[in-house]
Amino acid sequence: MQDLDSTQITEAAIAQMANTPDPRMREIMEAAVRHLHAFARETRLTPDEWLKGIAYLTAVGQACTPYRQEFILLSDVLGLSRLVNVMHDAKGREEVGTESSLLGPFFREGAPEIPMGGSIAGTSTGPEIVIFGQVTDGQGQGVPEARIDVWQTDADGLYDLQAHDPSVMEMRGQLRCDAEGRFHFRTLKPLGYSIPMDGPVGAMVRQQNRHGFRPAHIHILVAAPGYRELVTALYFGDDPNIDSDTVFGVSASLVITESLALPDAPVPGVPSVRYDFTLSRETEGGGGRVGSDPSRLMPAG
Ligand code: BEZ
Ligand code: FE
Repeated sequence: MQDLDSTQITEAAIAQMANTPDPRMREIMEAAVRHLHAFARETRLTPDEWLKGIAYLTAVGQACTPYRQEFILLSDVLGLSRLVNVMHDAKGREEVGTESSLLGPFFREGAPEIPMGGSIAGTSTGPEIVIFGQVTDGQGQGVPEARIDVWQTDADGLYDLQAHDPSVMEMRGQLRCDAEGRFHFRTLKPLGYSIPMDGPVGAMVRQQNRHGFRPAHIHILVAAPGYRELVTALYFGDDPNIDSDTVFGVSASLVITESLALPDAPVPGVPSVRYDFTLSRETEGGGGRVGSDPSRLMPAG
């Protein structure tokens, strides 16, 4: 019979898992146990606090639906999603590709096709802007006919899913670049918005005296055969929360400002943003979509 003190219990738990056949799973679970135990020792966690933590995680699970992933939101507000993205970028970009950002919960497959220069606004109204640029590889060569998916809030800070019934797709679209990877489209200047605050994650954010807002941004997904899919977002530098995004999605390289003075703007007289996206080759490490798309977690069929 083992008589385990507060340190030996960690080694005993790890020893019981030593026969896990999948080496990566063994590595992850061993580290999880080591860090969880160290956390409990460091904070001198009491049984009451342990139970509160269990009740909290139970509530997070109960808040999940096919359209809402509260666990991913929890990961987002704790900075874990951003950390995983940053490590994935460092592995794959070799310092050449555009930085990634969170996919967020509002991506939808099958957005309307937009012709070159078309608008994603649908019936939404507000200040118009134009986004243009080129999709290139790491050597600066245009990537022919790359596909761009774009989605954002309207000028009131609402995604279509929040503003309408789910049959309406607005403020989102897919377009195809030309043979040199160039693109331009019209949209509205989005407004920043609050993450969903009506569940256990929102309750925690409020308890921590955090504002819960994301700065105004445009989500962009760029895909082309032979290249890693890029999931990123462009953030408006004039948003008051640009330095305090609740989910830590902003990087300096993704901050934009619209201007009426860009010489190569395709639509003169409309404020424009030029942003060029650089894709990494599929072989340059990892691959696949990084982000929080709840549809990936739904059971198949
Ligand atoms: C978003 O960008 O839409 C988003 C990302 C993470 C959490 C909530 C919203
Ligand atoms: Fe968003």
